Amino acid sequence: MALKITVIGTGYLGATHAAAMAELGFEVLGLDVVPEKIALLESGRTPMYEPGLEELLRRHVAGIEGSSGRLRFTTDWAEIAEFGDVHFVCVNTPQKQGEYACDMSYVDSAMESLAKHLHRPALVVGKSTVPVGSAERLAARIAELAPAGGEVELAWNPEFLREGFAVEDTLHPDRIVVGVRSERAEKLLREVYAAPVAEGTPFVVTDFPTAELVKTAANSFLATKISFINAMAEVCEAAYGDVVKLAEAIGYDERIGSKFLRAGIGFGGGCLPKDIRAFMARAGELGADQALTFLREIDSINMRRRGQMVEMARDAVGGSFLGKRVAVLGATFKPDSDDVRDSPALNVAGQIHLQGGQVTVYDPKGMENAKRLFPTLGYAESAAEAVKGAHVVLHLTEWREFRELDPAGLGGVVAERMLLDGRNALDAARWREAGWTFRAMGRPAA
Ligand code: UDX
Repeated sequence: MALKITVIGTGYLGATHAAAMAELGFEVLGLDVVPEKIALLESGRTPMYEPGLEELLRRHVAGIEGSSGRLRFTTDWAEIAEFGDVHFVCVNTPQKQGEYACDMSYVDSAMESLAKHLHRPALVVGKSTVPVGSAERLAARIAELAPAGGEVELAWNPEFLREGFAVEDTLHPDRIVVGVRSERAEKLLREVYAAPVAEGTPFVVTDFPTAELVKTAANSFLATKISFINAMAEVCEAAYGDVVKLAEAIGYDERIGSKFLRAGIGFGGGCLPKDIRAFMARAGELGADQALTFLREIDSINMRRRGQMVEMARDAVGGSFLGKRVAVLGATFKPDSDDVRDSPALNVAGQIHLQGGQVTVYDPKGMENAKRLFPTLGYAESAAEAVKGAHVVLHLTEWREFRELDPAGLGGVVAERMLLDGRNALDAARWREAGWTFRAMGRPAA
């Protein structure tokens, strides 16, 4: 009989994983402790913007016309425990307030609530990004709490999905990593992932600590690559070099690779910044803090770029923001997402506002979230409205919509044709031809 799957936590990771499991043909039951979230998902909608996810939900959520009916949701722990052979725990691990370490309380409480109801054999699979050593600790806790005792096992299966590509990354991952302690656990996970593995996705079997570390190591490497190129941008700025050409040229070396070498205002979001900090905190607890001191530098290069964008903007408006209108294009931490968590764009906008600039922000999808987080900034309904009367326009999130803007048309409504590209994603020549002064991070002024 086909395995029955549950997914606990229906945020980015959980909602996508649940829909993807239904797409692979499994019967899936999703749980969230927030009833409003469940109600939304049951109508085939999501609380966040993620391309392709609502379509996938509507294909499978029970009760929606024409759906496979394989995906249902509940808030009931007993129902989840009774239903599933394999339980994926997908709750988040945010950064603790005022600390580097991550907050494990959601994972701990989800694992405990589930374990208490497990009267039958089951595999519990952690997917959240956690400090190394958590799986070992949680396995002991589950063994203590589960009525089915030794029939319940834990495995760790980190998730590498990117926002904006969550569906694609979940259905066609680069690799599947499982930390297991028995052949039975490995066999069950091979069954779950049979389809992507048949397509050629590598399936890496390892122990708990390695599985946990793969995730934090991968995110640390990505963060390092971005901060490396941003450090090169700083040197280019001092030496009148061009970081975009430099990145292109080093990227042709296959050992380096061209991806994640886009210089600009740096990385943000709900993962990279908090994951490298939590990794440092955990290494400290393990007495291995020296191994990760470089991550502190990665973090500070990243934060410094935001400040440098503010300085570039201040210089562009003559040394002070007082009485100046600043248009900010982009609020989300990256395009194709409505996520503004630790967004470099909003951070820059906020700093300029604090320094007395009159900031107007426009973002294709992130407006609601931005307004909630930064209610004192000005907002516009379109790029054209945002730039009206602006003394400087800042391009801070590289949405396609911004690449397609008409420089000549916008030139007619601004106070000054001054554009700063904080993402190195716009075509400088097009803007300059339309009479704009165009500057980008890590590139010489024309
Ligand atoms: C990241 C990891 O990529 C993913 O594997 C992991 O599971 C979760 O964390 P995500 O947070 O969705 O995914 O965003 P990602 O695409 O990695 O971008 C992170 C940040 O880096 C964004 O703010 C982006 O603008 C920035 N970035 C990315 C750069 O500044 N330069 C680049 O070259 C690439």
